[in-house]
Amino acid sequence: MLPGDGVGQDVGIEARKVLETAAERWDLPIEIEHFPWSADHYLETGVTLPEGAVADFRENYAAIFIGAFGDPRVPDMRHAADILLGLRFQLDLYINLRPVRLWDERLCPLKDKGVADIDFVVFRENTEGAYVGAGGNFKKGTPDEVAVQEEIHTRLGVERILRAAFDYAVEHNRREVCMTDKSNAQRFVGDLWLRTFEEVSRDYPQIETRHLYVDALTMLLVREPENFEVIVASNMFGDIVTDLGAALQGGMGVAASANLHPGRVSMFEPVHGSAPPLAGTGRANPVGAVQSIAMMLSYLGHRPASELIEGAIAESLRRGETTPDLGGTLTTSQVGDRLARAVATLPEG
Ligand code: IPM
Ligand code: MN
Repeated sequence: MLPGDGVGQDVGIEARKVLETAAERWDLPIEIEHFPWSADHYLETGVTLPEGAVADFRENYAAIFIGAFGDPRVPDMRHAADILLGLRFQLDLYINLRPVRLWDERLCPLKDKGVADIDFVVFRENTEGAYVGAGGNFKKGTPDEVAVQEEIHTRLGVERILRAAFDYAVEHNRREVCMTDKSNAQRFVGDLWLRTFEEVSRDYPQIETRHLYVDALTMLLVREPENFEVIVASNMFGDIVTDLGAALQGGMGVAASANLHPGRVSMFEPVHGSAPPLAGTGRANPVGAVQSIAMMLSYLGHRPASELIEGAIAESLRRGETTPDLGGTLTTSQVGDRLARAVATLPEG
């Protein structure tokens, strides 16, 4: 567990509570280790992601929980980039799976949309694209300054995220995969994505395909979210679309994600950031973090525990047992306690 900064710490405590409760109930052979890497740790030691950490995770761990990274004392977000993006890249966690699922009608900001209307997943490419950090500022600080930021998209990277989306559609009986890009403006990258999408789709004749420019997709996700099942996107478009998705399901507090490389150590994190003003106030919503634990347990093959955690979340949201962001009056730890109690006591199935 790497709770990180700000509310990452607060929700990390609740995530751990629920994980330990599930481990106890189902007698899961889980050992938890805590890593203090954060802005505090960086400012004290100068170390962001310690040397050897990636190899250690790869060889000795099954899964990683991440809280959130970001602190105003580190304005360039150096530690966040090194730890969060560093782990995504160096562990080659090429799938960022972000489910968008409305747990309760009251949480949706759209009028006349219910739980049946908002239920899709986003497959965000997680190891390349606009996030590779290629480029530079030349003649910095002069009137002639030039900033260059290159995107790198590889055939391998594009193909494997597309295949992951199609495989998911097959496994989960979804009808369609929608690929989104901006190929009308980014011609070269768009060309690679479009061609690869077309080729990969031939291996999945039972799955329908749809292509949308990302600007049009954002509009349609607000107008008719019910028409989406599986969306696949590059790293940055996936980042943007999943914040919109988080809003559709009740806000950043409830959104969860999995950074996956099937068969390898993978990483699970709430979508929200560190929200420094909320840290330690008891106002942070732990649901996204707890849902990330459910995704982790599912990935590790502990399906009954995972499903029960999801059931506990759905029930507590239906009852309005929530933090203030969702209109409730409970604190972070009260929500965590209730979720843990439900995980210990709700009947299975
Ligand atoms: C996310 C975040 C990160 C990203 C930031 C903190 C670099 O927004 O996980 O969605 O852009 O991937
Ligand atoms: Mn984001």
